[in-house]
Amino acid sequence: MADRKLRIGLAAYGTGWDLNGWRLPEADNRGLVDPSVIVDVARTAERGKLDYVFSGSALGSEPDRLNRIYRWDNFVYAGYAAAVTQHLGFLMSVNSSFEHPYATARQLATLDHFSRGRTALNVVFGIDREGDPARNFGRNPVPTEGTKYARAREFTEVVNRLLYESWDEDFLLDDKADDTLVRPGSWHRIEHSGEFFEVRGPLNVPRPVQQRIPNVHVGLSEESLAYGADLAQIRFSPYFGLDRGRAEYAAQKARVASAGRDPEKFKIVPGVTVYVAGTGREARAKFREVVALQAAEEIPEVFSKALGVDLSRVRDSERVLDVVDIDALEPDALEGLYRGRVQRGAGDVRDDRLLLRQIVATQLGEEATFRELYQYVLRSCEDQQPAVVGDARDVADWIEENFAERVLDGVQVFPPYHRGPADAFVDLVVPELQRRGLFRTEYEASTFQGLLDTDNG
Ligand SMILES: Cc1cc2nc3c(=O)[nH]c(=O)nc-3n(C[C@H](O)[C@H](O)[C@H](O)COP(=O)(O)O)c2cc1C
Repeated sequence: MADRKLRIGLAAYGTGWDLNGWRLPEADNRGLVDPSVIVDVARTAERGKLDYVFSGSALGSEPDRLNRIYRWDNFVYAGYAAAVTQHLGFLMSVNSSFEHPYATARQLATLDHFSRGRTALNVVFGIDREGDPARNFGRNPVPTEGTKYARAREFTEVVNRLLYESWDEDFLLDDKADDTLVRPGSWHRIEHSGEFFEVRGPLNVPRPVQQRIPNVHVGLSEESLAYGADLAQIRFSPYFGLDRGRAEYAAQKARVASAGRDPEKFKIVPGVTVYVAGTGREARAKFREVVALQAAEEIPEVFSKALGVDLSRVRDSERVLDVVDIDALEPDALEGLYRGRVQRGAGDVRDDRLLLRQIVATQLGEEATFRELYQYVLRSCEDQQPAVVGDARDVADWIEENFAERVLDGVQVFPPYHRGPADAFVDLVVPELQRRGLFRTEYEASTFQGLLDTDNG
């Protein structure tokens, strides 16, 4: 389709996304105490004509690992950032396992008015997340793996009914002479009584600006995919590589179609961490610098053996290309190291010789040492998303290929640290995508729903 355009979001975390990136000398970690850092992320996103900023939900507390867990309340953040932007959407994560639909509907409707229609709701369930959120919500029943989706469905249904069934459009009569502020019969109780929630309504905030505040779903299970097809407009998805990604994309669009909805209006947007610089060499060196911050003790024998390296003879500071004979390896040499991850290194490449060549060529660079390769493998076992590394053309090529192959409809970019990477994406990659006709040059709509071109569910 000629006018199919990318959707791009930018994640707002106090210290950026990478677990180690905050240790770079140039990293600005004041975002943990100074909101202006992530307010700048919103300004940067709007400067780049991006669709939205993403705020995750963190209800746990793990003081030793501040950078992922210690987060601002996302509704307060979005309310402030909405006042300093005009077009940007706010993708708000709410945890349906702990939060209440009445309070959430109030927050969403309020933000939708204050932002004039720029809100979306990402329902997450994290019951076993970092920092153990259940410990902060004592005495409230916590759903189990078996009930979390039932609760999420009921939560979403109640939120939507409160938003859209509470008030008629023309409820405000404002008849001073007749002492009638609200038109009689213009509001409705929802009288919800379900397995998890009991809510009478109506909501005490007017219906939102948007016809339908878009819903977002994450997750890998069948239940997540079914929830998405029935109730969401956007899938914030893991990245599975080209082959599996094509299949997952087609399967989810087919589910949306069988739910009687237009699959083109349903957007699939994986997260990516982008390292971009003026030259590919510079970008790979920066990525290597971050990889080298990954804590790693002695390289275990299982790793060196898998790569045919005898560490009693070879120093781990030697270049991979000097000490590993990639062509001589078995095609599944790395199998035991990746412990069943969904996405391995540069993508879902089956042949590990190809995978290794790709990692060295496109991510770590040819100077990569054996130790850095080990650190890379260690971190990529934990990370949910690929690092896309290179100059503007390399990054745009990666996005364009995955977009054209229908692996994704857009990307949610996670700056690995602050403040350079978000600006680098907007200043280097966005113009390249615009030159290729893949991304807007002006905002074409005033609401989030309009920008994303989503349906009414
Ligand atoms: C891409 C992605 C982003 C997520 N973001 C959050 C988040 O911000 N907060 C949270 O509590 N859980 C988050 N989660 C966790 C999901 O809510 C959790 O994994 C959920 O239980 C998905 O279940 P499923 O994979 O069993 O369907 C995220 C999961 C994925 C895949």
